[in-house]
Amino acid sequence: MPRLDTAVHDVATDVIAAPEGDAPYGGVVADEAWAAEVRRLATERDAVLLAHNYQLPEIQEIADHTGDSLALSRIAAASEASTIVFCGVHFMAETAKILAPEKTVLIPDARAGCSLADSITGEQLRSWKAEHPGAVVVSYVNTTAEVKAETDICCTSSNAVDVVASIPADREVLFCPDQFLGAHVKRVTGRDNLHIWAGECHVHAGINGPELAERAAADPGADLFIHPECGCATSALYLAGEGAVEADRVKILSTGDMLTAARATEAESVLVATEVGMLHQLRKAAPDIDFRAVNDRASCRYMKMITPAALLRSLREGADEVHVDPVTAERGRASVQRMIEIGKPGGGE
Ligand code: 13P
Ligand code: SF4
Repeated sequence: MPRLDTAVHDVATDVIAAPEGDAPYGGVVADEAWAAEVRRLATERDAVLLAHNYQLPEIQEIADHTGDSLALSRIAAASEASTIVFCGVHFMAETAKILAPEKTVLIPDARAGCSLADSITGEQLRSWKAEHPGAVVVSYVNTTAEVKAETDICCTSSNAVDVVASIPADREVLFCPDQFLGAHVKRVTGRDNLHIWAGECHVHAGINGPELAERAAADPGADLFIHPECGCATSALYLAGEGAVEADRVKILSTGDMLTAARATEAESVLVATEVGMLHQLRKAAPDIDFRAVNDRASCRYMKMITPAALLRSLREGADEVHVDPVTAERGRASVQRMIEIGKPGGGE
């Protein structure tokens, strides 16, 4: 197991440091004793451990399933475990609770939010809908339960194009909250009746075009794996259009689809435009390829709040439990259910 310290110590004596301000939980070494204790507690709680591809490597390794947001939602919905421990951010754990209301859903640190989910509120979506009566609302899964309750179909980056393509061509579509994913969907589907909310993820928006162009020029044989939430997605297609990069080397992919592409490519190096946690799964999937981040500062501080200490605390104390108001959950369930029914399997399933 990578990055595990093999020193044996008594985990029972580990004191989990109470975080100061918005610092994550600390004070625990992710060694073999920690891993054994996490596994023991998970069995005792009848818990399945799910980890998103952006989690710390030691969390990805200890999880039962590591994958993209669509795969993890499907696994949460189908799991027979009575408890789901969601190592990811809050909206992901909320989505699991909406899909499996009878289960206990835990997130190791409830402060793990998402700047993209914060970029639209239920109130803002209600006002936008009022301006476009009859429009179909498609919301990215990176939204609060309140926004999902106002939504017709949710999507993730891996099935956003399929979801929009499933809507009759003459219906207006409101797409929220990510402007870059929205632009990608509009480009691929060619729909001009798709209206896009101007939200963004601060991590992906920061992976910019000039930086990508510089990296691509320095490594002309590299594939470009670009997450559609990135600010540089349009620039990547522009570079391909200008002939600066071969068109078939530019791939706009969800995190799960990046793994499939990594196994299939013949390139010796790949420039990766997404949160840096993704590099761990990519290097495992294709150890001979040189994967490099387009921006190695693209680390999501919310994803990184799920530390070894936070996971141990979660399993010891049954915290932090995720609750979604039952009326809101009921209103959001159909949109999330449609999301997991559309699009091919993959990404960790
Ligand atoms: P995917 O796992 O759907 O690619 O999502 C990326 C993301 O930004 C989650 O926060
Ligand atoms: Fe949200 Fe961006 Fe972090 Fe993903 S990487 S959880 S979209 S803030």
